[in-house]
Amino acid sequence: MTEIVNLPIEHWDQACSLQQQDAALQALEGGDVVLLPHLAFTLHEAERRFLDPSLADAGKNISLNPANGALQGSRDSLEPLRGMVERYAQNSAALLRSLLPSYLPAIQTGRTSFRPVEVEGRTTSWRKDDTRLHVDSFPSSPTQGKRILRLFTNVHPEGRPRTWRLGESFEGVAQHFLPSLHRPVWGSSPMMHWLGITKSRRSAYDHFMLQLHDRMKADAAYQAKAPQHTQQFAPGSSWLVYTDQVSHAAMAGQHLFEQTFYLPINGMRDASKSPLRVLERLLRRELV
Ligand code: SIN
Ligand code: FE
Repeated sequence: MTEIVNLPIEHWDQACSLQQQDAALQALEGGDVVLLPHLAFTLHEAERRFLDPSLADAGKNISLNPANGALQGSRDSLEPLRGMVERYAQNSAALLRSLLPSYLPAIQTGRTSFRPVEVEGRTTSWRKDDTRLHVDSFPSSPTQGKRILRLFTNVHPEGRPRTWRLGESFEGVAQHFLPSLHRPVWGSSPMMHWLGITKSRRSAYDHFMLQLHDRMKADAAYQAKAPQHTQQFAPGSSWLVYTDQVSHAAMAGQHLFEQTFYLPINGMRDASKSPLRVLERLLRRELV
């Protein structure tokens, strides 16, 4: 079962001890959540007006593209809004440098998102419904085995927690669903890339991960009966988690920041714990 490992870090650029760095790495790669209960992201007075769900187009997230620094997902492309999200990105990078320095040579920065929309009661298709337990895998963004490491910070101004469910281990999920998954169709991946459906080639790994994501969400009995527990993340706290590995569901809450990082598995301390290596071991084949 996913555990919560607490670290008493209070500032984004705080020097972390070797023990803290070791504890964070051990927990994350082992499929636990690293909770930083005192690490808050403080909005400037003038930024408080951005705690407004109507800023996000069609109830989605507002996000910063690391390639060009552009803000997407909001028709109010105000520079101060962009600046707030960028400040979160910079804080995230500082935390990474002090807490997970061994990842620095290999890690890649992904999008930064601001999520001002209430999660509870939001209507979406079952595939996009993050209130169902899932591991992260996105149809248009194959990772080819790279890890998806995410940092979250709850900034709700009136004390509303972010409520998640956390499920069983990645190996447990994989063992449950693998017998019923299909093999990739030969030749489909280059075609999808060529047609622009995927941003890069969908590897056999991506193919299996997408199916795991979809099968988990589509299986009502699994959602109800899988081993799980509820975790509340208070405003003023941050947490780190490998969302490609940890079964999670966001049940309620509003006003969240999130930073995505991608880590090639050779940047991990123990790559054998990666979903890629776990799937390869269970399937007895390479998933390149
Ligand atoms: C998710 O990654 O499934 C959603 C997390 C959140 O918005 O709390
Ligand atoms: Fe997710």
